[in-house]
Amino acid sequence: MAKQAKTVTITINGTPLEVEEGTLLVDAASRADVEIPTLCYHEDLSPRGICGICLVKVNGEYVRSCITRVREGMEVVTSDPVIRETRRKILELILATHPDDCLKCIKHGKCELQDLAERLEVRSIPYDKYERGLPVDRTSPSIVRDMNKCIGCGRCIEVCHHVQSVGAIFFHNRGSHTIVANAAGQTMGTSVCVACGQCVVYCPVGALYEKEAVERVWEALADPEKVVVAQIAPAVRVALGEEFGMKPGELVIGKIYAALRRLGVDYVFDTNFSADLTIMEEGTEFLHRLEKGERLPLITSCSPGWIKFAETYYPDLLPHLSTCKSPQQMMGAVVKTYFAQAKGIPPSRIVSLSIMPCTAKKFEAQREEMRDSGFWDVDIVLTTRELARMIRQAGIRFDQLKEEPADPVLSSYSGAGTIFGATGGVMEAALRTAYEIKTGKSLPKVEFAQVRGVKGVKEAVIELNGTQIRVAVAHGLSNARKVLDRVREAKERGEPLPYHFIEVMACPGGCVGGGGQPLPSPLKKREERLMGLYAEDSALPVRKSHENPEVRALYEHFLKEPNGELPHTLLHTHYEPRDPYRLRKNPLREQVSTPE
Ligand code: SF4
Ligand code: SF4
Ligand code: SF4
Ligand code: FES
Repeated sequence: MAKQAKTVTITINGTPLEVEEGTLLVDAASRADVEIPTLCYHEDLSPRGICGICLVKVNGEYVRSCITRVREGMEVVTSDPVIRETRRKILELILATHPDDCLKCIKHGKCELQDLAERLEVRSIPYDKYERGLPVDRTSPSIVRDMNKCIGCGRCIEVCHHVQSVGAIFFHNRGSHTIVANAAGQTMGTSVCVACGQCVVYCPVGALYEKEAVERVWEALADPEKVVVAQIAPAVRVALGEEFGMKPGELVIGKIYAALRRLGVDYVFDTNFSADLTIMEEGTEFLHRLEKGERLPLITSCSPGWIKFAETYYPDLLPHLSTCKSPQQMMGAVVKTYFAQAKGIPPSRIVSLSIMPCTAKKFEAQREEMRDSGFWDVDIVLTTRELARMIRQAGIRFDQLKEEPADPVLSSYSGAGTIFGATGGVMEAALRTAYEIKTGKSLPKVEFAQVRGVKGVKEAVIELNGTQIRVAVAHGLSNARKVLDRVREAKERGEPLPYHFIEVMACPGGCVGGGGQPLPSPLKKREERLMGLYAEDSALPVRKSHENPEVRALYEHFLKEPNGELPHTLLHTHYEPRDPYRLRKNPLREQVSTPE
Protein backbone atom coordinates (compact mmCIF):
# COMPACT_ATOMS: atom_id res chain seq x y z
CA MET A 1 0.00 0.00 0.00
CA ALA A 2 1.30 3.48 -0.91
CA LYS A 3 2.62 5.41 2.09
CA GLN A 4 0.26 8.25 3.06
CA ALA A 5 1.95 11.64 2.73
CA LYS A 6 2.16 13.59 6.00
CA THR A 7 -0.02 16.70 6.06
CA VAL A 8 0.34 19.91 8.03
CA THR A 9 -2.19 22.60 8.90
CA ILE A 10 -1.47 26.22 8.02
CA THR A 11 -3.63 29.31 7.69
CA ILE A 12 -3.73 31.45 4.57
CA ASN A 13 -5.17 34.90 5.23
CA GLY A 14 -6.83 33.42 8.33
CA THR A 15 -8.40 30.43 6.55
CA PRO A 16 -7.12 27.02 7.74
CA LEU A 17 -5.69 24.72 5.08
CA GLU A 18 -4.52 21.14 5.36
CA VAL A 19 -1.74 20.48 2.89
CA GLU A 20 0.98 17.92 2.22
CA GLU A 21 4.14 18.69 4.18
CA GLY A 22 6.86 20.22 2.02
CA THR A 23 4.48 21.78 -0.53
CA LEU A 24 5.72 25.14 -1.79
CA LEU A 25 3.77 27.99 -0.26
CA VAL A 26 2.88 29.39 -3.67
CA ASP A 27 1.24 26.06 -4.60
CA ALA A 28 -0.46 25.68 -1.22
CA ALA A 29 -2.00 29.13 -1.63
CA SER A 30 -3.28 28.21 -5.07
CA ARG A 31 -5.07 25.22 -3.56
CA ALA A 32 -6.82 27.69 -1.25
CA ASP A 33 -7.79 29.69 -4.38
CA VAL A 34 -5.27 32.44 -3.63
CA GLU A 35 -3.16 33.31 -6.65
CA ILE A 36 0.20 34.74 -5.60
CA PRO A 37 1.87 36.68 -8.44
CA THR A 38 4.98 34.98 -9.86
CA LEU A 39 7.48 35.65 -12.61
CA CYS A 40 10.55 33.46 -12.23
CA TYR A 41 8.56 30.56 -10.78
CA HIS A 42 6.85 27.97 -12.98
CA GLU A 43 5.13 24.87 -11.65
CA ASP A 44 7.01 22.59 -14.09
CA LEU A 45 10.48 23.88 -13.17
CA SER A 46 12.64 23.86 -10.04
CA PRO A 47 12.10 27.09 -8.10
CA ARG A 48 14.95 29.58 -8.02
CA GLY A 49 13.59 32.57 -6.07
CA ILE A 50 15.09 35.21 -8.35
CA CYS A 51 12.50 37.97 -8.88
CA GLY A 52 10.91 38.46 -5.45
CA ILE A 53 7.44 39.23 -6.78
CA CYS A 54 5.89 36.30 -4.87
CA LEU A 55 6.55 37.97 -1.49
CA VAL A 56 4.27 36.92 1.41
CA LYS A 57 4.39 37.25 5.20
CA VAL A 58 4.82 34.10 7.30
CA ASN A 59 4.50 34.42 11.07
CA GLY A 60 5.49 38.09 10.82
CA GLU A 61 8.46 37.67 8.43
CA TYR A 62 8.54 38.44 4.73
CA VAL A 63 9.59 35.51 2.53
CA ARG A 64 9.47 34.42 -1.12
CA SER A 65 6.63 31.95 -1.40
CA CYS A 66 8.08 30.10 -4.40
CA ILE A 67 11.06 28.85 -2.39
CA THR A 68 9.39 28.44 1.02
CA ARG A 69 7.87 25.09 1.94
CA VAL A 70 4.92 24.72 4.29
CA ARG A 71 5.48 23.75 7.91
CA GLU A 72 2.97 23.03 10.66
CA GLY A 73 1.38 26.12 12.15
CA MET A 74 2.45 28.66 9.50
CA GLU A 75 0.27 31.76 9.44
CA VAL A 76 0.51 33.17 5.96
CA VAL A 77 -0.58 36.63 4.81
CA THR A 78 -0.52 37.10 1.03
CA SER A 79 -1.44 40.77 0.80
CA ASP A 80 -0.64 43.77 3.02
CA PRO A 81 0.61 47.31 2.26
CA VAL A 82 4.29 46.26 2.36
CA ILE A 83 3.69 43.27 0.09
CA ARG A 84 1.66 45.27 -2.43
CA GLU A 85 4.18 48.13 -2.47
CA THR A 86 7.19 45.79 -2.81
CA ARG A 87 5.60 43.87 -5.66
CA ARG A 88 4.76 47.10 -7.47
CA LYS A 89 8.32 48.45 -6.97
CA ILE A 90 9.79 45.23 -8.41
CA LEU A 91 7.60 45.58 -11.46
CA GLU A 92 8.43 49.27 -11.87
CA LEU A 93 12.14 48.47 -11.79
CA ILE A 94 11.73 45.72 -14.38
CA LEU A 95 9.64 47.97 -16.61
CA ALA A 96 12.22 50.77 -16.35
CA THR A 97 14.63 48.59 -18.32
CA HIS A 98 11.98 47.06 -20.59
CA PRO A 99 11.03 48.51 -23.99
CA ASP A 100 7.51 49.97 -24.18
CA ASP A 101 6.88 47.69 -27.06
CA CYS A 102 3.73 45.84 -26.11
CA LEU A 103 1.60 46.79 -29.10
CA LYS A 104 4.20 45.38 -31.52
CA CYS A 105 5.39 42.47 -29.39
CA ILE A 106 4.80 38.88 -30.44
CA LYS A 107 3.80 38.08 -26.87
CA HIS A 108 1.19 40.85 -26.69
CA GLY A 109 -1.85 39.43 -24.92
CA LYS A 110 0.06 36.35 -23.73
CA CYS A 111 2.78 38.06 -21.71
CA GLU A 112 3.06 37.39 -18.00
CA LEU A 113 4.80 40.72 -17.37
CA GLN A 114 2.03 42.61 -19.14
CA ASP A 115 -0.61 40.69 -17.17
CA LEU A 116 1.12 41.43 -13.86
CA ALA A 117 1.54 45.11 -14.64
CA GLU A 118 -2.20 45.22 -15.26
CA ARG A 119 -3.07 43.13 -12.22
CA LEU A 120 -0.86 45.13 -9.84
CA GLU A 121 -1.97 48.40 -11.43
CA VAL A 122 1.39 49.81 -12.42
CA ARG A 123 0.40 53.06 -14.09
CA SER A 124 3.69 54.97 -14.21
CA ILE A 125 7.42 54.29 -13.89
CA PRO A 126 9.06 56.65 -11.35
CA TYR A 127 12.59 55.89 -12.67
CA ASP A 128 14.67 57.01 -15.66
CA LYS A 129 14.14 54.70 -18.61
CA TYR A 130 17.19 52.60 -19.46
CA GLU A 131 17.09 51.14 -22.98
CA ARG A 132 19.57 48.34 -23.47
CA GLY A 133 19.94 48.71 -27.24
CA LEU A 134 21.17 45.15 -27.66
CA PRO A 135 21.28 43.36 -31.02
CA VAL A 136 18.57 40.79 -31.67
CA ASP A 137 19.96 37.33 -32.40
CA ARG A 138 18.23 35.97 -35.50
CA THR A 139 20.97 33.50 -36.44
CA SER A 140 18.99 30.37 -35.58
CA PRO A 141 16.61 29.04 -38.20
CA SER A 142 14.15 28.35 -35.36
CA ILE A 143 14.45 30.83 -32.51
CA VAL A 144 14.86 34.58 -32.14
CA ARG A 145 16.39 35.97 -28.96
CA ASP A 146 15.78 39.59 -28.01
CA MET A 147 17.64 40.42 -24.83
CA ASN A 148 16.12 43.88 -24.70
CA LYS A 149 13.01 42.20 -23.32
CA CYS A 150 14.65 39.70 -20.97
CA ILE A 151 13.61 40.13 -17.32
CA GLY A 152 16.30 37.78 -16.02
CA CYS A 153 13.92 35.16 -14.60
CA GLY A 154 16.18 32.24 -15.54
CA ARG A 155 13.36 29.91 -16.63
CA CYS A 156 14.94 29.38 -20.07
CA ILE A 157 18.26 28.41 -18.50
CA GLU A 158 16.54 26.06 -16.06
CA VAL A 159 14.67 24.22 -18.81
CA CYS A 160 17.63 24.15 -21.18
CA HIS A 161 20.04 22.76 -18.57
CA HIS A 162 17.89 20.60 -16.34
CA VAL A 163 14.94 19.41 -18.42
CA GLN A 164 16.78 19.22 -21.73
CA SER A 165 20.38 18.82 -20.44
CA VAL A 166 21.61 20.74 -23.49
CA GLY A 167 23.23 23.68 -21.71
CA ALA A 168 23.13 26.05 -24.66
CA ILE A 169 22.41 29.25 -22.71
CA PHE A 170 23.77 30.92 -19.58
CA PHE A 171 23.44 34.14 -17.63
CA HIS A 172 26.16 36.60 -18.63
CA ASN A 173 27.10 39.87 -16.88
CA ARG A 174 25.64 41.26 -13.65
CA GLY A 175 22.87 43.47 -12.33
CA SER A 176 20.95 45.43 -14.94
CA HIS A 177 23.45 44.22 -17.58
CA THR A 178 22.47 40.59 -17.04
CA ILE A 179 21.51 38.84 -20.26
CA VAL A 180 21.05 35.29 -21.44
CA ALA A 181 23.68 34.27 -23.99
CA ASN A 182 25.52 31.30 -25.43
CA ALA A 183 28.99 30.26 -24.34
CA ALA A 184 32.18 31.55 -25.96
CA GLY A 185 30.62 34.28 -28.06
CA GLN A 186 28.44 31.84 -30.02
CA THR A 187 24.90 32.65 -31.10
CA MET A 188 21.65 30.68 -31.04
CA GLY A 189 22.41 29.58 -34.60
CA THR A 190 25.99 28.46 -34.04
CA SER A 191 25.85 27.08 -30.50
CA VAL A 192 24.86 23.62 -29.25
CA CYS A 193 21.21 24.75 -29.08
CA VAL A 194 19.04 21.97 -30.56
CA ALA A 195 16.19 24.36 -31.43
CA CYS A 196 13.66 22.46 -29.29
CA GLY A 197 11.98 25.74 -28.26
CA GLN A 198 11.35 24.72 -24.66
CA CYS A 199 12.97 27.99 -23.58
CA VAL A 200 10.41 29.79 -25.75
CA VAL A 201 7.58 27.89 -24.05
CA TYR A 202 8.70 28.92 -20.58
CA CYS A 203 9.85 32.49 -21.26
CA PRO A 204 7.23 34.73 -19.58
CA VAL A 205 7.85 37.63 -21.98
CA GLY A 206 8.74 38.24 -25.61
CA ALA A 207 12.48 37.71 -25.22
CA LEU A 208 12.48 34.30 -26.94
CA TYR A 209 10.19 33.37 -29.80
CA GLU A 210 9.97 31.36 -32.98
CA LYS A 211 11.58 32.60 -36.20
CA GLU A 212 8.43 33.68 -38.00
CA ALA A 213 7.60 32.55 -41.54
CA VAL A 214 4.05 33.86 -41.86
CA GLU A 215 4.94 36.57 -44.41
CA ARG A 216 6.67 34.02 -46.66
CA VAL A 217 3.47 31.96 -46.68
CA TRP A 218 1.31 34.98 -47.57
CA GLU A 219 3.70 35.73 -50.45
CA ALA A 220 3.52 32.16 -51.75
CA LEU A 221 -0.27 32.16 -51.53
CA ALA A 222 -0.45 35.40 -53.49
CA ASP A 223 1.86 34.14 -56.25
CA PRO A 224 -0.19 32.67 -59.15
CA GLU A 225 2.85 30.69 -60.31
CA LYS A 226 3.05 28.76 -57.05
CA VAL A 227 1.10 25.71 -55.94
CA VAL A 228 1.00 25.61 -52.15
CA VAL A 229 0.77 22.11 -50.69
CA ALA A 230 0.28 21.88 -46.94
CA GLN A 231 0.68 19.08 -44.39
CA ILE A 232 -0.36 19.11 -40.73
CA ALA A 233 1.51 17.23 -38.01
CA PRO A 234 -0.30 14.88 -35.61
CA ALA A 235 0.06 17.05 -32.48
CA VAL A 236 -1.33 20.21 -34.10
CA ARG A 237 -4.85 18.73 -34.38
CA VAL A 238 -5.31 18.51 -30.60
CA ALA A 239 -3.81 21.91 -29.76
CA LEU A 240 -4.69 24.57 -32.34
CA GLY A 241 -8.21 24.87 -30.91
CA GLU A 242 -6.69 26.36 -27.71
CA GLU A 243 -5.84 29.49 -29.69
CA PHE A 244 -9.57 29.92 -30.32
CA GLY A 245 -10.92 29.20 -26.86
CA MET A 246 -11.33 25.45 -27.26
CA LYS A 247 -10.13 22.82 -24.80
CA PRO A 248 -6.67 21.21 -24.96
CA GLY A 249 -7.06 17.77 -26.55
CA GLU A 250 -10.09 18.76 -28.64
CA LEU A 251 -9.73 17.27 -32.12
CA VAL A 252 -9.95 20.06 -34.71
CA ILE A 253 -8.33 18.51 -37.76
CA GLY A 254 -11.41 18.92 -40.01
CA LYS A 255 -11.48 22.63 -39.16
CA ILE A 256 -7.75 22.93 -39.90
CA TYR A 257 -8.24 21.47 -43.39
CA ALA A 258 -11.10 23.95 -43.93
CA ALA A 259 -9.08 26.91 -42.59
CA LEU A 260 -6.10 26.13 -44.83
CA ARG A 261 -8.37 26.08 -47.89
CA ARG A 262 -9.85 29.43 -46.90
CA LEU A 263 -6.34 30.84 -46.59
CA GLY A 264 -5.76 29.81 -50.21
CA VAL A 265 -3.74 26.60 -49.87
CA ASP A 266 -4.10 24.53 -53.07
CA TYR A 267 -3.75 21.01 -51.67
CA VAL A 268 -4.20 19.94 -48.06
CA PHE A 269 -2.47 16.72 -47.02
CA ASP A 270 -1.78 15.23 -43.62
CA THR A 271 1.53 14.40 -41.94
CA ASN A 272 -0.27 11.47 -40.29
CA PHE A 273 -0.13 9.84 -43.71
CA SER A 274 3.67 10.12 -43.78
CA ALA A 275 3.82 9.00 -40.14
CA ASP A 276 2.33 5.74 -41.43
CA LEU A 277 4.88 5.80 -44.23
CA THR A 278 7.67 6.30 -41.68
CA ILE A 279 6.47 3.21 -39.84
CA MET A 280 6.61 1.17 -43.05
CA GLU A 281 10.22 2.21 -43.50
CA GLU A 282 11.33 2.18 -39.86
CA GLY A 283 9.45 -1.01 -38.94
CA THR A 284 11.08 -2.78 -41.89
CA GLU A 285 14.47 -1.35 -40.96
CA PHE A 286 14.02 -2.63 -37.40
CA LEU A 287 13.07 -6.13 -38.53
CA HIS A 288 16.08 -6.28 -40.90
CA ARG A 289 18.47 -5.18 -38.16
CA LEU A 290 16.88 -7.63 -35.73
CA GLU A 291 17.29 -10.52 -38.16
CA LYS A 292 20.94 -9.65 -38.79
CA GLY A 293 21.58 -8.68 -35.17
CA GLU A 294 23.33 -5.52 -36.30
CA ARG A 295 23.30 -1.90 -35.09
CA LEU A 296 20.86 -2.61 -32.29
CA PRO A 297 19.30 -0.90 -30.49
CA LEU A 298 17.58 0.92 -33.31
CA ILE A 299 16.85 4.48 -32.18
CA THR A 300 14.02 6.50 -33.72
CA SER A 301 14.83 9.57 -35.77
CA CYS A 302 11.71 11.68 -36.20
CA SER A 303 12.51 14.38 -33.64
CA PRO A 304 15.01 16.86 -35.15
CA GLY A 305 15.93 18.38 -31.77
CA TRP A 306 16.88 14.89 -30.65
CA ILE A 307 18.89 14.33 -33.86
CA LYS A 308 21.01 17.43 -33.27
CA PHE A 309 21.45 16.44 -29.62
CA ALA A 310 22.65 12.96 -30.69
CA GLU A 311 25.02 14.46 -33.28
CA THR A 312 26.45 16.75 -30.61
CA TYR A 313 26.57 14.61 -27.47
CA TYR A 314 26.31 10.98 -28.68
CA PRO A 315 28.20 10.84 -32.00
CA ASP A 316 29.35 7.32 -31.08
CA LEU A 317 25.71 6.17 -31.15
CA LEU A 318 24.81 7.70 -34.54
CA PRO A 319 25.04 4.31 -36.36
CA HIS A 320 22.16 3.18 -34.12
CA LEU A 321 19.82 5.91 -35.32
CA SER A 322 17.21 4.91 -37.86
CA THR A 323 18.15 6.33 -41.25
CA CYS A 324 14.49 7.28 -41.83
CA LYS A 325 13.74 10.93 -42.37
CA SER A 326 11.00 12.36 -40.18
CA PRO A 327 7.36 12.26 -41.38
CA GLN A 328 7.60 15.98 -42.24
CA GLN A 329 10.50 15.37 -44.62
CA MET A 330 9.06 12.15 -46.05
CA MET A 331 5.85 13.96 -46.94
CA GLY A 332 7.83 16.79 -48.56
CA ALA A 333 9.91 14.34 -50.61
CA VAL A 334 6.80 12.50 -51.83
CA VAL A 335 4.99 15.77 -52.65
CA LYS A 336 7.88 16.98 -54.83
CA THR A 337 8.11 13.63 -56.69
CA TYR A 338 5.11 11.28 -56.70
CA PHE A 339 2.45 13.97 -56.31
CA ALA A 340 4.20 16.42 -58.69
CA GLN A 341 4.45 13.70 -61.37
CA ALA A 342 0.86 12.53 -60.88
CA LYS A 343 -0.47 16.08 -61.30
CA GLY A 344 2.03 17.17 -63.93
CA ILE A 345 3.18 20.10 -61.80
CA PRO A 346 6.89 21.00 -62.02
CA PRO A 347 8.34 20.62 -58.49
CA SER A 348 9.90 24.08 -58.85
CA ARG A 349 6.37 25.53 -58.75
CA ILE A 350 5.39 23.67 -55.59
CA VAL A 351 5.72 25.35 -52.21
CA SER A 352 5.80 22.58 -49.64
CA LEU A 353 4.38 24.02 -46.43
CA SER A 354 4.25 22.20 -43.12
CA ILE A 355 2.33 23.07 -39.97
CA MET A 356 4.28 21.73 -37.03
CA PRO A 357 4.09 21.82 -33.22
CA CYS A 358 7.83 22.24 -33.27
CA THR A 359 10.49 24.92 -33.67
CA ALA A 360 13.22 22.35 -34.45
CA LYS A 361 11.35 21.37 -37.63
CA LYS A 362 12.37 24.75 -39.06
CA PHE A 363 15.99 23.74 -38.46
CA GLU A 364 15.42 20.28 -39.92
CA ALA A 365 13.80 21.56 -43.13
CA GLN A 366 16.90 23.57 -44.05
CA ARG A 367 19.46 20.79 -43.40
CA GLU A 368 21.49 20.25 -46.58
CA GLU A 369 20.57 16.55 -46.68
CA MET A 370 16.88 17.35 -47.10
CA ARG A 371 16.73 17.79 -50.87
CA ASP A 372 17.46 14.37 -52.36
CA SER A 373 14.89 14.87 -55.11
CA GLY A 374 16.80 17.93 -56.32
CA PHE A 375 14.30 20.19 -54.53
CA TRP A 376 13.86 21.05 -50.87
CA ASP A 377 11.50 18.51 -49.30
CA VAL A 378 9.88 21.27 -47.25
CA ASP A 379 10.07 24.96 -48.17
CA ILE A 380 8.34 26.65 -45.24
CA VAL A 381 7.57 25.46 -41.71
CA LEU A 382 4.94 27.21 -39.60
CA THR A 383 4.38 26.45 -35.94
CA THR A 384 0.88 25.86 -34.55
CA ARG A 385 1.00 29.41 -33.12
CA GLU A 386 1.92 30.92 -36.49
CA LEU A 387 -0.97 29.16 -38.23
CA ALA A 388 -3.30 30.57 -35.57
CA ARG A 389 -1.97 34.06 -36.34
CA MET A 390 -2.66 33.61 -40.06
CA ILE A 391 -6.18 32.41 -39.33
CA ARG A 392 -6.81 35.46 -37.13
CA GLN A 393 -5.27 37.83 -39.71
CA ALA A 394 -7.62 36.39 -42.34
CA GLY A 395 -10.61 36.96 -40.07
CA ILE A 396 -11.63 33.31 -40.12
CA ARG A 397 -13.86 32.26 -37.24
CA PHE A 398 -12.05 29.02 -36.61
CA ASP A 399 -14.42 27.69 -33.96
CA GLN A 400 -17.37 28.20 -36.34
CA LEU A 401 -15.79 26.47 -39.33
CA LYS A 402 -17.49 23.37 -40.73
CA GLU A 403 -15.19 20.38 -40.86
CA GLU A 404 -13.86 19.34 -44.26
CA PRO A 405 -11.84 16.35 -45.42
CA ALA A 406 -8.23 16.62 -46.65
CA ASP A 407 -7.35 16.02 -50.31
CA PRO A 408 -6.93 12.44 -51.45
CA VAL A 409 -3.71 10.58 -52.30
CA LEU A 410 -1.51 11.72 -49.37
CA SER A 411 -3.90 12.18 -46.48
CA SER A 412 -5.52 8.94 -45.31
CA TYR A 413 -4.15 7.85 -41.97
CA SER A 414 -4.34 5.18 -39.31
CA GLY A 415 -4.56 5.50 -35.54
CA ALA A 416 -0.87 4.55 -35.46
CA GLY A 417 -0.10 7.68 -37.48
CA THR A 418 -2.03 9.94 -35.15
CA ILE A 419 -0.33 8.75 -31.95
CA PHE A 420 3.05 9.84 -33.35
CA GLY A 421 2.36 13.11 -31.57
CA ALA A 422 2.50 11.47 -28.11
CA THR A 423 5.52 10.16 -26.23
CA GLY A 424 5.56 6.39 -26.86
CA GLY A 425 3.42 6.77 -29.98
CA VAL A 426 6.14 6.04 -32.54
CA MET A 427 7.18 2.96 -30.58
CA GLU A 428 3.59 1.73 -30.30
CA ALA A 429 2.92 2.36 -34.00
CA ALA A 430 6.11 0.51 -34.97
CA LEU A 431 5.30 -2.42 -32.68
CA ARG A 432 1.78 -2.77 -34.16
CA THR A 433 3.27 -3.14 -37.64
CA ALA A 434 6.44 -5.09 -36.74
CA TYR A 435 4.38 -7.64 -34.79
CA GLU A 436 1.98 -8.34 -37.65
CA ILE A 437 4.67 -8.45 -40.34
CA LYS A 438 6.95 -10.68 -38.27
CA THR A 439 4.30 -13.11 -37.00
CA GLY A 440 1.86 -12.97 -39.91
CA LYS A 441 -0.90 -12.84 -37.29
CA SER A 442 -3.34 -10.16 -36.19
CA LEU A 443 -2.49 -8.46 -32.93
CA PRO A 444 -4.75 -9.77 -30.17
CA LYS A 445 -4.76 -6.25 -28.65
CA VAL A 446 -3.79 -3.17 -30.64
CA GLU A 447 -2.76 -0.99 -27.68
CA PHE A 448 0.69 -1.30 -26.05
CA ALA A 449 -0.16 0.28 -22.70
CA GLN A 450 3.41 -0.31 -21.42
CA VAL A 451 4.78 2.50 -23.60
CA ARG A 452 2.01 5.02 -22.86
CA GLY A 453 1.92 7.72 -20.19
CA VAL A 454 4.17 10.57 -19.12
CA LYS A 455 6.82 8.76 -17.07
CA GLY A 456 10.19 10.15 -18.23
CA VAL A 457 11.57 6.74 -19.20
CA LYS A 458 9.28 3.80 -19.98
CA GLU A 459 10.65 0.31 -20.47
CA ALA A 460 8.92 -2.87 -21.63
CA VAL A 461 9.63 -6.35 -22.92
CA ILE A 462 7.53 -7.37 -25.91
CA GLU A 463 7.38 -10.92 -27.24
CA LEU A 464 7.88 -11.00 -31.03
CA ASN A 465 7.65 -14.49 -32.55
CA GLY A 466 9.50 -16.06 -29.64
CA THR A 467 12.08 -13.25 -29.30
CA GLN A 468 11.94 -11.00 -26.24
CA ILE A 469 12.24 -7.42 -27.53
CA ARG A 470 13.42 -4.94 -24.91
CA VAL A 471 12.21 -1.42 -25.66
CA ALA A 472 12.65 1.98 -24.02
CA VAL A 473 10.84 5.28 -24.56
CA ALA A 474 12.31 8.61 -23.38
CA HIS A 475 10.90 12.12 -23.72
CA GLY A 476 12.73 15.28 -22.71
CA LEU A 477 16.44 15.17 -23.50
CA SER A 478 17.62 14.68 -19.91
CA ASN A 479 15.59 11.45 -19.90
CA ALA A 480 17.09 10.48 -23.24
CA ARG A 481 20.53 10.90 -21.67
CA LYS A 482 19.68 8.31 -19.00
CA VAL A 483 18.75 5.71 -21.62
CA LEU A 484 21.65 6.51 -23.94
CA ASP A 485 24.19 6.44 -21.12
CA ARG A 486 23.01 2.90 -20.31
CA VAL A 487 23.59 1.87 -23.93
CA ARG A 488 26.97 3.60 -24.09
CA GLU A 489 28.18 2.06 -20.83
CA ALA A 490 27.07 -1.43 -21.89
CA LYS A 491 28.93 -0.99 -25.19
CA GLU A 492 32.08 0.25 -23.46
CA ARG A 493 32.06 -2.68 -21.06
CA GLY A 494 31.30 -5.20 -23.82
CA GLU A 495 28.11 -6.22 -22.00
CA PRO A 496 24.87 -7.24 -23.74
CA LEU A 497 22.98 -4.17 -24.87
CA PRO A 498 20.05 -3.27 -22.64
CA TYR A 499 17.54 -2.60 -25.44
CA HIS A 500 16.61 -3.58 -28.99
CA PHE A 501 14.55 -0.51 -29.83
CA ILE A 502 14.48 3.01 -28.35
CA GLU A 503 12.14 5.94 -29.01
CA VAL A 504 13.39 9.42 -28.18
CA MET A 505 11.35 12.61 -28.40
CA ALA A 506 13.14 15.85 -27.55
CA CYS A 507 10.17 17.58 -25.92
CA PRO A 508 8.54 16.57 -22.64
CA GLY A 509 5.28 14.79 -23.54
CA GLY A 510 6.45 14.29 -27.14
CA CYS A 511 5.32 16.59 -29.95
CA VAL A 512 2.16 17.60 -28.03
CA GLY A 513 4.64 19.58 -25.90
CA GLY A 514 6.64 20.99 -28.82
CA GLY A 515 8.16 24.45 -28.76
CA GLY A 516 5.65 25.77 -31.35
CA GLN A 517 2.45 24.80 -29.56
CA PRO A 518 -0.11 27.29 -28.18
CA LEU A 519 0.95 29.06 -24.99
CA PRO A 520 0.81 28.52 -22.13
CA SER A 521 1.88 24.91 -22.50
CA PRO A 522 2.40 23.45 -19.02
CA LEU A 523 2.88 19.70 -18.60
CA LYS A 524 -0.69 19.15 -17.42
CA LYS A 525 -2.05 20.67 -20.63
CA ARG A 526 0.28 18.46 -22.68
CA GLU A 527 -1.31 15.41 -21.03
CA GLU A 528 -4.76 16.55 -22.14
CA ARG A 529 -3.52 16.91 -25.72
CA LEU A 530 -2.01 13.45 -25.48
CA MET A 531 -5.35 11.98 -24.39
CA GLY A 532 -6.96 13.66 -27.40
CA LEU A 533 -4.61 11.76 -29.72
CA TYR A 534 -5.32 8.42 -28.04
CA ALA A 535 -9.04 9.13 -28.27
CA GLU A 536 -8.73 9.72 -32.01
CA ASP A 537 -6.67 6.55 -32.41
CA SER A 538 -9.31 4.37 -30.77
CA ALA A 539 -12.07 5.92 -32.88
CA LEU A 540 -10.39 5.35 -36.26
CA PRO A 541 -11.39 2.40 -38.44
CA VAL A 542 -7.74 1.69 -39.45
CA ARG A 543 -5.24 1.59 -36.59
CA LYS A 544 -2.12 0.08 -38.15
CA SER A 545 0.19 1.85 -40.57
CA HIS A 546 0.55 -1.12 -42.94
CA GLU A 547 -3.24 -1.13 -43.45
CA ASN A 548 -3.36 2.51 -44.65
CA PRO A 549 -4.78 2.20 -48.21
CA GLU A 550 -3.04 5.30 -49.60
CA VAL A 551 0.32 4.18 -48.21
CA ARG A 552 -0.18 0.80 -49.90
CA ALA A 553 -1.03 2.56 -53.17
CA LEU A 554 2.11 4.71 -52.88
CA TYR A 555 4.27 1.59 -52.67
CA GLU A 556 2.36 -0.13 -55.46
CA HIS A 557 2.55 2.77 -57.92
CA PHE A 558 5.80 4.49 -56.99
CA LEU A 559 8.05 3.39 -54.14
CA LYS A 560 7.73 -0.36 -54.80
CA GLU A 561 8.93 -1.87 -51.53
CA PRO A 562 9.83 -0.58 -48.04
CA ASN A 563 13.58 0.02 -47.67
CA GLY A 564 13.94 -0.46 -51.44
CA GLU A 565 16.12 1.65 -53.72
CA LEU A 566 13.75 4.59 -54.28
CA PRO A 567 12.70 4.82 -50.60
CA HIS A 568 16.40 4.85 -49.71
CA THR A 569 17.06 7.74 -52.07
CA LEU A 570 14.04 9.85 -51.08
CA LEU A 571 13.03 8.87 -47.57
CA HIS A 572 16.27 8.07 -45.76
CA THR A 573 19.15 10.26 -44.64
CA HIS A 574 22.44 10.32 -42.72
CA TYR A 575 23.83 12.16 -39.70
CA GLU A 576 27.02 14.10 -38.97
CA PRO A 577 28.90 14.21 -35.67
CA ARG A 578 29.10 17.77 -34.30
CA ASP A 579 31.85 18.83 -31.91
CA PRO A 580 30.26 20.89 -29.11
CA TYR A 581 33.60 22.34 -28.07
CA ARG A 582 34.92 23.37 -31.45
CA LEU A 583 34.43 27.08 -31.90
CA ARG A 584 32.74 27.20 -35.24
CA LYS A 585 33.43 29.77 -37.83
CA ASN A 586 30.45 32.02 -37.56
CA PRO A 587 29.26 32.93 -41.07
CA LEU A 588 25.89 34.02 -39.68
CA ARG A 589 27.32 36.55 -37.27
CA GLU A 590 26.62 39.44 -39.60
CA GLN A 591 22.95 38.46 -39.49
CA VAL A 592 22.74 39.52 -35.86
CA SER A 593 20.61 42.59 -36.38
CA THR A 594 19.65 45.52 -34.27
CA PRO A 595 16.16 45.79 -32.78
CA GLU A 596 13.44 46.96 -35.14
S1 SF4 B 1 7.46 41.08 -23.59
FE1 SF4 B 1 7.48 43.18 -23.03
S2 SF4 B 1 6.93 44.23 -24.87
FE2 SF4 B 1 6.28 42.10 -25.13
S3 SF4 B 1 4.14 42.07 -24.45
FE3 SF4 B 1 5.43 41.52 -22.75
S4 SF4 B 1 5.74 43.45 -21.67
FE4 SF4 B 1 5.04 43.97 -23.70
S1 SF4 C 1 15.85 25.84 -27.97
FE1 SF4 C 1 16.15 24.14 -26.52
S2 SF4 C 1 18.35 23.75 -26.65
FE2 SF4 C 1 18.04 25.76 -27.57
S3 SF4 C 1 18.37 27.22 -25.91
FE3 SF4 C 1 16.17 26.76 -25.95
S4 SF4 C 1 15.89 25.07 -24.50
FE4 SF4 C 1 18.07 25.20 -24.97
S1 SF4 D 1 14.97 35.02 -21.90
FE1 SF4 D 1 12.91 34.85 -21.01
S2 SF4 D 1 13.00 33.00 -19.76
FE2 SF4 D 1 15.10 33.57 -20.19
S3 SF4 D 1 15.72 34.79 -18.43
FE3 SF4 D 1 14.99 36.20 -20.01
S4 SF4 D 1 12.85 36.52 -19.55
FE4 SF4 D 1 13.48 34.71 -18.42
S1 FES E 1 8.33 34.04 -8.38
FE1 FES E 1 9.17 33.78 -6.43
S2 FES E 1 11.05 34.82 -6.51
FE2 FES E 1 10.26 34.93 -8.55
